[in-house]
Amino acid sequence: MAAKGASKRSSNPEAASSQEISVLVIHGPNLNLLGEREPEVYGRTRLIDIDRELGRLGKELGIAVETFQSNSEGAIVDRIQAARKQSDVIMINPGAYTHTSIAIRDALAAVALPVIEVHLSNVYRREAFRHHSTIADLAAGRIMGFGADSYYLGLRAARGIVDAARSTTV
Ligand code: DQA
Repeated sequence: MAAKGASKRSSNPEAASSQEISVLVIHGPNLNLLGEREPEVYGRTRLIDIDRELGRLGKELGIAVETFQSNSEGAIVDRIQAARKQSDVIMINPGAYTHTSIAIRDALAAVALPVIEVHLSNVYRREAFRHHSTIADLAAGRIMGFGADSYYLGLRAARGIVDAARSTTV
């Protein structure tokens, strides 16, 4: 039997042994249209369903998940800045801003939190202009090509990053 009060938030023993962490998930432009937008490329899962599953999986892993979507670069920069005292990890799919935005890159560098870059599609199987990412070298890791599963794999990676960092500092 688990120790009294070991984990009120989850029945998962994995979560019970580790402290709850906070992950901010940012979805960039046009990802609000997931499900209807080019389903042959991005799949039929809607953003609301991805966010719901991230919340559910987060509970299992001991992660408080906050999600944010914006079509505007400035709003994404503002949200990244606001995360610096709130979140342990930022997981981001910057959408088309992946390939163009120095402002989002600078914001991520400024807050200095671990970053996980996520894409639904495998950008390397697509047009050459999608092959460059302004944040690739800042990211702890990049997950792409698995549709909505890219996000769920990313959330598990977030848990791993924080646990690994904590185990080396205690
Ligand atoms: C994307 C890939 C980008 O090239 C594209 O502009 C998107 C979505 C992806 O998740 O596969 O909007 O980030």
